[in-house]
Amino acid sequence: MPIYLDYNATTPLDRRVLEAMQPYLTGPYGNASSVHRYGRAARDAIEQARAQVAALVGARAEQVIFTSGATESNNLALQGGAVARGRERLLYGATEHPSVLETAEALARSGVAVETIAVTREGVVDWPAFEAQLAAAPVRWVALMRANNETGVIQDVARAAQLAHDAGARLHCDAVQAAGKIELDFNALGADCLSLSAHKFYGPKGVGALLKRADLELAPLLYGGGQERGLRGGTENLAAIVGFGRAAELALAELQARAARWRRLQQRLETGLRALPGTTIFGADAPRLPNTTQFALPGWHGEALLMALDRRGVAVSSGSACASGKGQPSHVLLAMGWPREIAFGAVRVSFGCESSEADVDRLLALLAELHAQVAAA
Ligand SMILES: Cc1ncc(COP(=O)(O)O)c(C=O)c1O
Repeated sequence: MPIYLDYNATTPLDRRVLEAMQPYLTGPYGNASSVHRYGRAARDAIEQARAQVAALVGARAEQVIFTSGATESNNLALQGGAVARGRERLLYGATEHPSVLETAEALARSGVAVETIAVTREGVVDWPAFEAQLAAAPVRWVALMRANNETGVIQDVARAAQLAHDAGARLHCDAVQAAGKIELDFNALGADCLSLSAHKFYGPKGVGALLKRADLELAPLLYGGGQERGLRGGTENLAAIVGFGRAAELALAELQARAARWRRLQQRLETGLRALPGTTIFGADAPRLPNTTQFALPGWHGEALLMALDRRGVAVSSGSACASGKGQPSHVLLAMGWPREIAFGAVRVSFGCESSEADVDRLLALLAELHAQVAAA
């Protein structure tokens, strides 16, 4: 049986989520904007999902804007915020997902002043440098992810939000990888808006949300029929939204149990990795997600190691799914100050609900074999 250990790239659809969605694929087919009974049934289902998604992050239902996924949510926050809030400086974490990085770079091409926020070798914000950036000139917008998709490193977003607010800036948080893995509280984080994506916690692909405080002004990316309070035109993807809601409900109910299991698997994996001489675990001393470990084996290129493991039936990632295959070392590890030759070696293992101790032991046995091959060469 092949073993899937790439749950940060995406998760399978939970059967209970599919069951919740199925009636909306074949049954109620109304448009949620219609006022007749068909439309009202669709609207009720969407509003229930909105409450379920809000509950996952301790927010209010009216703060949730449904989108096509977190790429759109991050674009809406940053592009929509830049349009509504003016063109002065945007600061964004150097280890953000490409949906933030590329948006920031596009904004820079259109004349917005953008700067990255440096991180330490452990992948957390370099606080003195960040404070100096905030003090140097007015900042309108800060983007900082809650947890990194490659290393799993968790950022102190509440501290960044406090500093940003004191400096008169707003803060957007990409919480895609944190949702369903660690506790998330929109209010405690202090973020002005926050992105979520259903397919990272057993929901369907192609649906996500941007949570937004009422007093934050955003301009829509898509104009249309005024759906989602005018911030996201387009007929809602009813079944996907229902699935997102159910996945959020399950993630909240099962969070502690899932996280405790992942933490045990992670410890087992990392104990085994430390026994392989010369192995690097990235962000090892930082707070990290319970399900994520990124490492490099000496003498192995990450892509080659990924393929060697794939041939032996184990699926891992050599960094973020979007970046793999580009032949570039992970921008996350370079930002953390790792030399290119070590960053090139990076492989990411991410656990999910189906992962077991037997999976970890199989992976460790293969890694020991591959490690020995290089040592013998
Ligand atoms: C941290 C992070 N942000 C954003 C995204 C994009 O999410 P989506 O696939 O919903 O567009 C991902 C997905 O890989 C991610 O890991």
